[in-house]
Amino acid sequence: MTNKIKISNGRLEVPDRVIIPFIEGDGIGPEITRATQKIVDEALRVSYNGQRSISWFEVLAGEKAFTKTGEWLPQATLDSFNEYIVGIKGPLTTPVGGGIRSLNVALRQTLDLYVCMRPVRWFKGVPSPIRYPSRVDMHIFRENTEDIYAGIEFMTGTPDAEKFKKLLEENFGIENVRFPESSSFGIKPISKEGSERLIRAAIKFAIDRNLPSVTLVHKGNIMKFTEGAFKNWGYDLAEHEFGNKVFTWKQYETISKEKGKEAAQEAKNQAEKEGKVILKDVITDAFLQESLLRPYDYSVIATMNLNGDYISDQLAAMVGGIGISPGANINYQSGFAIFEATHGTAPNIAGTGKANPSSLLLSAAMMLEYMNWNKAAEHIYDALEHTFNKRKVTADLFSLMEGAQLVSTEEFASEVISNIH
Ligand code: NAI
Repeated sequence: MTNKIKISNGRLEVPDRVIIPFIEGDGIGPEITRATQKIVDEALRVSYNGQRSISWFEVLAGEKAFTKTGEWLPQATLDSFNEYIVGIKGPLTTPVGGGIRSLNVALRQTLDLYVCMRPVRWFKGVPSPIRYPSRVDMHIFRENTEDIYAGIEFMTGTPDAEKFKKLLEENFGIENVRFPESSSFGIKPISKEGSERLIRAAIKFAIDRNLPSVTLVHKGNIMKFTEGAFKNWGYDLAEHEFGNKVFTWKQYETISKEKGKEAAQEAKNQAEKEGKVILKDVITDAFLQESLLRPYDYSVIATMNLNGDYISDQLAAMVGGIGISPGANINYQSGFAIFEATHGTAPNIAGTGKANPSSLLLSAAMMLEYMNWNKAAEHIYDALEHTFNKRKVTADLFSLMEGAQLVSTEEFASEVISNIH
């Protein structure tokens, strides 16, 4: 009997005693990792009477790896994630200088983790800047491998920028660069394949979880052949691959043109009644406003890399900030997934017991859900909410909550554990 997760017929097979590789992380990493593992172990014990458990297997990356091996991201670490399929990581210091731009980017690229998934929900008791945070329940699917993040940029004044400018002028007849002599240039690749696999994952997620809608967020009114194409590919894919499981805004418009608005609205209502996923699209700037004013209109969000970056932080702020928001990088085809804290290493509070472990803990709960160990994940959500409700919180939330009691990272973990029943 092996202790490794396997993929069989596109499905994850998880043994009851599973090995999960973890990167402890730099700065506050060790503190939040310790707290998270203790809580997860207890949630598993309570949920499955000792039938299921995780053997945590440490792999190295970041400063700790550099000190021990002279490498920031040893090959052995990449091999482990490859071998064990699902893993979790704390925050990593971005090396200054040297060959690696970002360890996180290197990990995502090596395993082709094309979805950055961020659930956004509110826990009772957590301070929020909006009036009805309980109405926020969204899942962001951010494309993770394309867009301006491909890093194709030419700095003004360099021979490459000059070459590129000439190419635009001579081969494409482009004359409307406002200040050609002092312009830098950047390229934004958005592919059909990359867009489709992201949107497919988002729609499938909504169907599997009975969620009401998927919204394609894009700036296709301006960037017609990149972001606009993303939207069009999304609608085409929904129609071809998901058929009558989805009702699209395109269908709504067609009915509206042929039979009038009332008929279109009726068709949409009927689709909702039948539990179909509604696929719609919104321009990015409108989405940033609308998601604040009418968060309940949005459920799953599918978007490209840069939009996803902005949107993730805004939505996180609506429910308590990045200190408590979890994330995962997933390849839904191969099954590879790395769950992670979304904040950095917080060097200013490292070793002081002030770190809030919730972001990593909630990432671990997402990991349990991904493994289909839902009961343990539910226990963690409940216990965490209970703890916030009792107002026993770490320093970051303490300063924002009236009548709160300040606890250390370790005490917070103990409190969460005592709330797991
Ligand atoms: P940061 O997220 O580490 O810190 C920003 C602020 O938030 C600080 O005041 C910090 O004390 C606070 N904070 C962050 N996490 C917290 C937590 N769990 N509990 C309580 N307070 C928390 O961002 P910063 O300072 O820009 O980056 C520090 C280092 O982390 C850099 O080397 C950066 O490259 C790296 N980083 C790594 C990430 C990752 O591995 N996913 C993500 C972001 C930054």
